[in-house]
Amino acid sequence: MDHAIWTEKYRPSTFEEIRGQKDIIEKIRAFVERKNMPHLLFSGPAGVGKTTLSLVIARKLFGKEWHQNFLELNASDERGIDVVRNKVKDFARTRSMGDVPFKIIYLDECDALTREAQQALRRTMENYTATTRFILSCNYSSKIIDPIQSRCTVFRFSPLDKKEMAKIVETIAKAEKLKIDEKAVEALCEVAEGDVRRVENVLQACASVGDKISEDAVYNMASIAKPKEIKAVLEECVKGRFVEAKNKLLSTMLSYGLSGLDVIKQVQKEIWALDVPAEKRLEMVKMCGEIEFRLVEGSDEFIQLESLLASFCSMK
Ligand SMILES: Nc1ncnc2c1ncn2[C@@H]1O[C@H](COP(=O)(O)OP(=O)(O)O)[C@@H](O)[C@H]1O
Ligand SMILES: [Mg+2]
Repeated sequence: MDHAIWTEKYRPSTFEEIRGQKDIIEKIRAFVERKNMPHLLFSGPAGVGKTTLSLVIARKLFGKEWHQNFLELNASDERGIDVVRNKVKDFARTRSMGDVPFKIIYLDECDALTREAQQALRRTMENYTATTRFILSCNYSSKIIDPIQSRCTVFRFSPLDKKEMAKIVETIAKAEKLKIDEKAVEALCEVAEGDVRRVENVLQACASVGDKISEDAVYNMASIAKPKEIKAVLEECVKGRFVEAKNKLLSTMLSYGLSGLDVIKQVQKEIWALDVPAEKRLEMVKMCGEIEFRLVEGSDEFIQLESLLASFCSMK
């Protein structure tokens, strides 16, 4: 078995290989064909193809020389905008090679920059517009100041749907000769919540233990309880059976090594699948919020979770 990290090994290197994000890719293709593009702002959750698409753009525009014409920086670990500014200056000083009149700077996690730093970034973007294009990436475009947003074409990336995720899992499973059943594929798509990086990491972690991948292995690796186990706890609560609910929760927590916060997140999700009146669900969601807050503040997790189950059980 080789030791390459699958997120890199299976990173798409062409537009065709990128799954989902169809509208975005269509527009980006047009820019690349004209060998001209505006500054871009990519916003969206982790692991959905923002960095990947930027690399594909660079490959398509610059061919073999793409490395010399593409600079990747991370706004959050470059110790402030001054470092970014100096690196940009060095990079932008020399002209791009080949027939494209600009180089590309990819700046990841821009929403980690303060407003002041973003102002400085905006000036830097202006200073080098003749020779560079910026691709900025962030989780939330609302955290990016308007003057930057208005200088960029904004693209909003979505989490991948389960069908696309399942195709990615199947492709990798085939290439790596894994034995994986439908339930395990479903479990992978469930735990990853549209994040391809996560799906690939959990799959690789499972495969490192053996080439037969089961539903249980996936949930263990992802260290979150199976939805149906948490659901069973909630169903005991709805029937008012506190002791049963508490015992089931405890054994689930122990066997998966879950923290109180892991549990709350799961419970919160499973409430929506419960067969109870809508008002009851709302009540339960509210209680989860309260308990989550107390846990974050450092309260004892077992006392807090028992208190949550008790409130669920005594709901009218
Ligand atoms: N849309 C996608 N189609 C196929 N693989 C993807 C997609 N998005 C992410 N991946 C996989 O996940 C890894 C991380 O994706 P990346 O583009 O770095 O995510 P981010 O949106 O956080 O920048 C990639 O190397 C690739 O293996
Ligand atoms: Mg990225």
